[in-house]
Parts: sequence; structure tokens; C-alpha cells
Amino acid sequence: MSPFTIAIDGPAAAGKGTISKAVAAHFGVAHLDTGLLYRAVGARMLRGDDPIEAARKLEADDLENPDLRTAEVAQAASRVAIIPEVRAALLDFQRAFARRSGGAVLDGRDIGTVICPRAEVKLFVTASAEIRARRRLAELLDHGFDTDFEAVLADVKARDDRDMNRADAPLRPAEDAVTIDTSTLDVDAAIAAAIAAVEARRAG
Ligand code: C5P
Repeated sequence: MSPFTIAIDGPAAAGKGTISKAVAAHFGVAHLDTGLLYRAVGARMLRGDDPIEAARKLEADDLENPDLRTAEVAQAASRVAIIPEVRAALLDFQRAFARRSGGAVLDGRDIGTVICPRAEVKLFVTASAEIRARRRLAELLDHGFDTDFEAVLADVKARDDRDMNRADAPLRPAEDAVTIDTSTLDVDAAIAAAIAAVEARRAG
């Protein structure tokens, strides 16, 4: 198969991560969760570092930190993601990854609009805020975090608001993106819909 880039964007906890991993495995290409880059910078900011410097000096090891999954780091990530210099510092790494031989899946907020506007396939994966909060709650409780539905819903809505309303690279579907609403789909159906959409785009 010739190299191709699949851009998968959408709001927090819509199922992008699960879908992206499955799509990458199905097509045998590499996968980059670009949220981890912003989380790593956010985690550095929480430790007192300057976010712009942290973004410029980011190393592969920084992405391995298990603490990157916490709600606190997620909020910090969406705060540093507003800073244009942070976004600029992370651009080259993402573009180089997208063009690696064999192709790649990148998931995030601005992959189809800013990072890879010429990606061969663009998906926008979404779901209602309540459904996303319910899924995220189950995931957090599973990982032993002490939280509740209202707290998680507030967190999801605060991030949506920040991600959609920032001036630089706001979250929105690319004009040529295929939208997949996972509100009423289980994991297998969501993955099947994404693979079908990729195949349809590649065939067409
Ligand atoms: O996807 P994830 O929840 O890990 O992303 C954390 C935060 O990083 C998002 O809320 C968003 O503010 C930011 N982000 C971004 N652009 C991306 C990926 C993530 O601004 N491509």
C-alpha cells in the first residue's frame, strides 16, 4: 500500500484513541497520539517549567510518563495548547511522523486542519458531552482514580470550551472530514465505521 496519512480529530474522550490504534493496526501503519505531546508539556508546566521551553526541548522519553493520563495534566495540556509558540514547537515532529514511510495515523484536535491539511483521509470522531463523560469516568475509576460523573463532565466541558474557542488551531472538523458520531456505537461498531470510512476514501 502506498504511504498515506490518516488524520483523526475530535473532542476529548470521543473514542479517538481506541479508534486510532485499531485503524493503525488494521492498515499496518504507525500511530501517534498527539495529545501526549501537549500533556507532556502540561506536566512540565505543573512542575514549574516554562511551557514554551518545555515544548522546544521535548524528548521521546517525556511521552512515557504514566502520570500524563490524569485529569489535572489534561487540563494543563489544554491550557498550554492555547500558546501559539507551544503549538509551533510541536509542528515539525508531528509532520515528520505523518510522512514516515508506510504511512501513519495521527489523532488530535488540529491534524486535518493544520498539521496535515493534505492527509489522504480525515475523520472527525465525536459524541455528546454526557456520553464522553460517562466513558471517561469508567476509564478513570478503572485506573483507580477517585472521581464522579459531575466532576468528569465539568472537566470535559471545560476542555471542549478551551479547545473550540482558542484563536490558534481551534478544534473543528476539516471541510473534507468524514464525521463519525460514536454516541450510539459500541467500540467494535465505532472501529468498523472508521475502517469503512478509510477504505471508502482510499477507493474513491
Ligand atoms: O487528546 P488528549 O485528551 O490527550 O489531549 C489533551 C489536550 O491537548 C487537549 O484538550 C487539547 O487542548 C490539546 N491538544 C491539542 N491539539 C492536538 C492534541 C491535543 O491542542 N492535536
